[in-house]
Amino acid sequence: MDEATTGGWPARPTWLRPPEFEVQAHRLGAGAPVDLGRSALIGGDALAVLSALPANSIQTVVTSPPYWSLRDYGIGGQIGLEESVYSFVDHLADVFDQVFRVLIRDGTLWLNIGDSYTSGNRGWRAPDRKNPARAMSLRPPTPEGLKDKDLIGVPWRLAFALQDRGWYLRSEVIWRKPNAQPESVKDRPTRDHEQLFLFSKAEKYKYDVHAVKGPNGRRLRTVWDISTRPRREASGHFATFPDDLVDRCLRITSEPGDLVLDPFLGSGTTALVAGRLGRRFLGIELHPDYLEMSRHRLREAGFKEAEASSAHVPATPETRRHATI
Ligand SMILES: C[S@@+](CC[C@H](N)C(=O)[O-])C[C@H]1O[C@@H](n2cnc3c(N)ncnc32)[C@H](O)[C@@H]1O
Repeated sequence: MDEATTGGWPARPTWLRPPEFEVQAHRLGAGAPVDLGRSALIGGDALAVLSALPANSIQTVVTSPPYWSLRDYGIGGQIGLEESVYSFVDHLADVFDQVFRVLIRDGTLWLNIGDSYTSGNRGWRAPDRKNPARAMSLRPPTPEGLKDKDLIGVPWRLAFALQDRGWYLRSEVIWRKPNAQPESVKDRPTRDHEQLFLFSKAEKYKYDVHAVKGPNGRRLRTVWDISTRPRREASGHFATFPDDLVDRCLRITSEPGDLVLDPFLGSGTTALVAGRLGRRFLGIELHPDYLEMSRHRLREAGFKEAEASSAHVPATPETRRHATI
């Protein structure tokens, strides 16, 4: 392949050591094999890896970064354990500055991020009988300026930060979860939604209004009802995207052959759905176990691995500056 057929990327990545996983082609249904050349999973810190990617190369990003002070993924350099919500937002905004740089001019970002409540400064969440996964979870300390029991408003704090840094904030989608976990709290409604923001790099961007219809064939609305994936189906990762959520986003803002990125790949849902839709993909994940999980899911789904080699992009002094552990 020459540069013309790889969208300006060198056929062989020279900008990084060989990726963990490279997919050359994947047969979709009975049709012709779709060229997924240059799809890759890369182990490393999102900011460090993104900084090494070429500008103007990605069509769309679908991602869910770690939520603030909610969960310890058990690895140094992870995002989410910053002492204050303000440094968490700054840290993520730095990552999304790089996402902005690597996006093509008509590119977009779908950003899912959850909110949380202040805890009255208890460190670890007490084990929750109804939801054992939460035993490993953290309780956010109370940020300066807020009170115990306040809803922190993390999604909007991050959305405003990205707006300030030049992104166009185009939509707030409410992802409603019909199968949301019960909560034991008795002085507010049970939370059953999360935000999914659509950002663009420029005023005009690739968006197919006909790609996904709402109920009764009407234009898609901003409240999306999509059940979460049970954890046993998600190979043990804590916070996987439902395939349908990613599928929708990708159909709307990308076309077959486009390059899709998830800088917080987790168990690999974005890569898997992108590949199924004939999009090329690039996934970045810090935790080697989750990277392996993605690899496994892709293999199970019938993707061919071009070459297996170990690559891990070390954190730079700049990215280490943000690490809290
Ligand atoms: C909310 S999960 C993403 C889940 C994903 N959407 C899925 O479907 O599985 C966030 C992921 O970000 C990873 N992560 C945390 N800090 C990171 C960093 N600095 N760079 C890259 N990945 C990081 C965590 O290990 C975790 O797997």
